[in-house]
Amino acid sequence: MSSEWEKALEEIQRELWADYSETVIDHAQNPRNVGTIPDADGFGRFTGPCGDTMEIWLKVRDGVISEARFWTDGCGTTIAAGSMITEMVKGENAARALRISQQNVLDALGGLPEDSEHCALLAANTLKEAVKDYMAFKKEPWKRAYRKRE
Ligand code: FES
Repeated sequence: MSSEWEKALEEIQRELWADYSETVIDHAQNPRNVGTIPDADGFGRFTGPCGDTMEIWLKVRDGVISEARFWTDGCGTTIAAGSMITEMVKGENAARALRISQQNVLDALGGLPEDSEHCALLAANTLKEAVKDYMAFKKEPWKRAYRKRE
């Protein structure tokens, strides 16, 4: 590849990401915790009004989230939000994780342009579903045998 071509590509990338923080760009381009957890203790799936879906899997030990993974069919900003929220919950008490809000994700990402703020809400809502799922199975573990395979 010619260096002129590389420079042109870099310029396009710079323009595409001009409105985003370094943290957002880093998490979008190098997402952490992508994938699934077999036999997860909590699983959540949420589809936002834009039609994008996120899924989050949690492993919980003694009430503390030891592992979190995510998947999404959304845009780069959604990937950054999923990556960030799964980092934020690791080592967090499940009850406190339930209170992680859209604003908490936005703050951790260094903000998002207004049009993309709903991507942080998608991540927060998906996490809530996963934690609620963990809590429901904790109360009635026998139901785990009847859970649909994700
Ligand atoms: Fe749909 Fe981000 S564009 S959640």
